[in-house]
Amino acid sequence: MREDVAGDVPPPPTPLSRGEGERSGCGTPPSGQLLQVRGLTKHFLITGGPAGVRTIGQVRAVEDVSFGVAAGETLALVGESGCGKSTTGRMLLRLTEPTSGSVQFAGEDLLALSHRALQRRRRQMQIVSQDPYASLSPRQAVEDIVAEPLDVYRLYASRAARRERVVELLRLVGLDASHLRRRPFEFSGGQRQRIAIARAIAPEPRMIVADEPVSALDVSIRSQVVNLMQDLQERLGVAYLFISHDLAVVRHIAHRIAVMYLGRLVELAECDALFDAPHHPYTQALLSAVPAPDPERKRTRIILRGDVPSPARVPSGCHFHPRCPIAQQICRESIPPLRQQPDGRSVACHFATAFPIPV
Ligand SMILES: Nc1ncnc2c1ncn2[C@@H]1O[C@H](COP(=O)(O)OP(=O)(O)OP(=O)(O)O)[C@@H](O)[C@H]1O
Ligand code: SF4
Ligand SMILES: [Mg+2]
Repeated sequence: MREDVAGDVPPPPTPLSRGEGERSGCGTPPSGQLLQVRGLTKHFLITGGPAGVRTIGQVRAVEDVSFGVAAGETLALVGESGCGKSTTGRMLLRLTEPTSGSVQFAGEDLLALSHRALQRRRRQMQIVSQDPYASLSPRQAVEDIVAEPLDVYRLYASRAARRERVVELLRLVGLDASHLRRRPFEFSGGQRQRIAIARAIAPEPRMIVADEPVSALDVSIRSQVVNLMQDLQERLGVAYLFISHDLAVVRHIAHRIAVMYLGRLVELAECDALFDAPHHPYTQALLSAVPAPDPERKRTRIILRGDVPSPARVPSGCHFHPRCPIAQQICRESIPPLRQQPDGRSVACHFATAFPIPV
């Protein structure tokens, strides 16, 4: 993938970006709750029968998920493909309607809002999706793409002010006025994601749901986009729900990490605490696949038996029990609630303890 399609070589050293490894997201998360999610659940109905309209089952995509996000914080949501990360993110914005649960944002119950009120509230919570090729209209110039939220919320007084604001936003993401009239096909993947981020921050949101924002990008440019997002957070105080399956990226950007398995949260902890000592056997297995910071020390990867079960046929008790190396009878019978531990993290395991990462 080329990064200089629109003639800018190399991709942004923006005035904001910093070198890789210079900082980590791990650190004390800011306080002051912005988002509070409780018991969020989504069951997709499976239809069938001769007319294709009879409900014959349900996909338990997200089950009883609760977490909070502080203003200016990055909470990462991680887990294997199909565990319910995107569905959770989409429910926050009601792009997918929850089956049950509650979403409080800035003290307001989002699920109780009318469509019109929700539209207004969405100014404060934006989304950046994985595919910068699909998320930008190929026919629109960059100026109009970035100005879209400005148009929707009428956030300018004149055409000149609109353009001025778009140029300011482009500069914030490492692009400039020369890109205004260009179209998405003239840009590389990394630059397109910068355009998508410029559009997301245009209405000055308090939170962005970033769904795998760097997964479709070349490894070489992922850290630039991640650094850009961190810099924007420092400047603008925006909070992120950062959805990813890449724990190395997450370690770089997240203050706290929530681990999902088969629709449920299994562990939620501050970034350092999670990487130092996972307290759930699934987190332990996930982390064993992340290369050790010291390249001299090779990790022994924990290979879990079997595949992730289908969310249309979730196991009884703890969803993880068919693959858990330490499962007991109680695990098959009883769902472990997400319980707060003495060190402040939350874990859903009957036998939660500090598990070592094998070396
Ligand atoms: N509209 C839908 N109708 C039916 N099932 C759905 C729908 N959207 C998602 N699902 C199912 O819900 C489950 C969770 O999907 P989701 O996209 O949230 O997972 P994910 O963790 O984001 O996965 P990935 O890492 O692959 O993006 C999956 O089994 C998926 O097939
Ligand atoms: S509750 Fe039981 S099966 Fe589930 S993770 Fe803990 S030990 Fe394993
Ligand atoms: Mg997804």
